[in-house]
Amino acid sequence: MAPLLELQDFHYYYGNIHTVKGINMQVNEGEMVTIIGANGAGKTTTLQAISGLKETKGVHGKIIFEGKEIQGYHGHKVAALGLCQVLEGRHVFSKLTVEENLLTGAYLRKDAKNIKEDLKGIYKRFPRLEERRTQLAGTLSGGEQQMLAIGRALINKPKMILLDEPSLGLAPVIVKEVFKAIREINQEGVTVLFVEQNSKIALNTANRGYVMQVGEVAMEGYCKDLLVNEEVKKAYLGG
Ligand SMILES: Nc1ncnc2c1ncn2[C@@H]1O[C@H](COP(=O)(O)OP(=O)(O)OP(=O)(O)O)[C@@H](O)[C@H]1O
Ligand SMILES: [Mg+2]
Repeated sequence: MAPLLELQDFHYYYGNIHTVKGINMQVNEGEMVTIIGANGAGKTTTLQAISGLKETKGVHGKIIFEGKEIQGYHGHKVAALGLCQVLEGRHVFSKLTVEENLLTGAYLRKDAKNIKEDLKGIYKRFPRLEERRTQLAGTLSGGEQQMLAIGRALINKPKMILLDEPSLGLAPVIVKEVFKAIREINQEGVTVLFVEQNSKIALNTANRGYVMQVGEVAMEGYCKDLLVNEEVKKAYLGG
């Protein structure tokens, strides 16, 4: 079966700075895949290029989603295909309420009558959001903002979501809660690709992982194998 998402010899240039240097990645339908690597490795650049948030002139190579080449598509067009990037939690609309934020995520939807039902589903997954539905998003805690950002992507019923460092700035107990939600979303059939600085939690959550080093894929494999790999242990798992 062809992968749901594939990068073929993908490069990214910031002007003439060659930042991502010909990487290949595949994510199969239903999988949960992580990209780990040190600061500046090119993880965010790669994720944003997939979701159409980078300048197309910097992109070389192929990004294929459901068999279709999407490199060069703008963000809204990528999202319309069912490939949605979860914006960082702190990028929710702070002056809008929780519910208004969720509804802004639904702008692509043509079936307005079902949105109420979907809101209910999101509140069921994140009861804290329901309790705070009329609260301004800017006054939510970091963890709640991350949940809201995930909810905002889910309201479009994506086939696949992309997340950039869902654990960033969160207390360990909240990180657990956020990852539990992501795992459940995956178990319900949404394919997941996430970038994570916290390699330990990333490799303990995903099925497969890619290790990026200065713009290249240095290693890839099943997370259970990466977790016991000596190089990975030394460089990313603190021994
Ligand atoms: N707009 C830009 N212009 C020029 N260089 C950039 C730009 N954005 C990022 N870079 C550079 O590209 C490289 C990769 O950055 P990127 O943000 O993709 O790394 P990352 O792996 O996500 O790192 P981190 O773990 O710190 O988030 C870095 O060297 C960074 O300085
Ligand atoms: Mg980054």
